[in-house]
Amino acid sequence: MRVIKTIKEMQSIAKGHKKEGLTIGFVPTMGFLHEGHLTLVREAKKICNVVVVSIFVNPLQFGPKEDFAKYPRDFERDSAMLQKEGVEYIFHPDGEEMYGKGYQTYVEVTEVTKNLCGASRPGHFKGVTTVVSKLFNAVMPDYAFFGEKDYQQLATIKRMVADLNMDINVIGVPIVREADGLAMSSRNTYLSEEERKSALCLYRAINLAKELINNGERSAEKILSEVVNLISNTALTRIDYVKLCDPETLDYIETGLLKGKTLLALAVFVGNTRLIDNAILEV
Ligand code: PAF
Repeated sequence: MRVIKTIKEMQSIAKGHKKEGLTIGFVPTMGFLHEGHLTLVREAKKICNVVVVSIFVNPLQFGPKEDFAKYPRDFERDSAMLQKEGVEYIFHPDGEEMYGKGYQTYVEVTEVTKNLCGASRPGHFKGVTTVVSKLFNAVMPDYAFFGEKDYQQLATIKRMVADLNMDINVIGVPIVREADGLAMSSRNTYLSEEERKSALCLYRAINLAKELINNGERSAEKILSEVVNLISNTALTRIDYVKLCDPETLDYIETGLLKGKTLLALAVFVGNTRLIDNAILEV
């Protein structure tokens, strides 16, 4: 496994592999890896000849009051984990390499980013689509792998790739959960023991919504109010949003009866840590 620090070298390696007729699989990350990331890597290993994982904590996607400075970082640990998975390259540029002096170009997807995290975290998705475009240009992948836990991020990347005619297959990979149901996230490391217990309310809320549907409930208002009650009655929590959405457009569904597929999307502060989770509800 090689660690590549510059865009030029990454591009030249990618071009070399393309000439050899090899496919490149790409897993973009901000490091502090967990089983969720490793699942993406394993999917990439299954269908691609060469796998590149990027580790870059992207300042552009953090708001001024967010956790960029304290975002967990441990490159040694991450690289040992990736070595074990048989990854060929880690792309690990620094901030200067990605956004050098005079930087002024951004990529923005306007509609699918309006709601949910886009509403709570202004500028976040512009930061994500900008960095992912730059990473795509550096790594030149045939396939790129993203977790479904960041449902809106995946939808946004798919839109960007389609709209900008990027010749890349974007693959969504199902959420990986801890044994008790908590969705894996690098931010789970921020949780105290008490908060970790409270954090389970996101998964319990998803299961409650599924159970309501299975028992014949169809009212969007009723399902939302039951889910909100469950989370609000859990210690140490503060709801950022609890929403039912069209799974394609991410438009909110606030009233009426659910039919077909509906996305349940949650963002909840547990202590100071903001956690997200989601599920597709099927009638
Ligand atoms: O999902 C993430 O970890 C980040 O948003 C990504 C895709 C690596 C871009 O910085």
